[in-house]
Amino acid sequence: MKIEGNHLERRQRPYAEILLANKAWAKNMVEKDAEYFKRLALGQYPDYLWIGCSDSRVPAAGVSQTEPGELFVHRNIANQVITNDFNLMSVVKYAVDYLNVKHIVVCGHYGCGGVIAAMNNNTDKYLGDWLTGIKDSYKRNRAELDTFTDEKEKINRMCEINVERQIEKLASSSLIQKAWRKGKELQLHGWIFDLETGLINPLTDVVGNPNT
Ligand code: CO
Repeated sequence: MKIEGNHLERRQRPYAEILLANKAWAKNMVEKDAEYFKRLALGQYPDYLWIGCSDSRVPAAGVSQTEPGELFVHRNIANQVITNDFNLMSVVKYAVDYLNVKHIVVCGHYGCGGVIAAMNNNTDKYLGDWLTGIKDSYKRNRAELDTFTDEKEKINRMCEINVERQIEKLASSSLIQKAWRKGKELQLHGWIFDLETGLINPLTDVVGNPNT
């Protein structure tokens, strides 16, 4: 297998180049559709809320091939759903109650650095505490995880367990429970992105209220 390119190295792209690329993109979009940005500015009606990892290799719009206006996005380290996290929960609140999204996707990825750090019991300030939930999940699933002889497979299974756990927490949250009780059509999907193939692997779907 041949690995080409320099993705393992820092790209060192000058920031001015990014601004130039933006100009070229905007120009190109307008050339294709003169009204494109005028329409975009009118408002957003996304069907999807995407909760993903902050990892630079898993851009929400890129891997899902969605256009501006289709995804409402929240990303944090290791795609955690922590129900007293104001940042996340205000995004979920707005997405569900105001944007009326029909789907919430929690998308993790194999080889997640946050998951690996939790498995190694990272105690860095902020980071170690942010990962507490994964550390607990790791302990609870130790019997299954210790059956893996291949370290990479073990990590990847933990990455899947992490996504499944976030979907459970989301499904049990008061906000989502309330939405379902009001009869809102809202589905939760746990996905995991494979950096080695570029493919999203669907893990779990919650299409009705699991708590009733
Ligand atoms: Co990650």
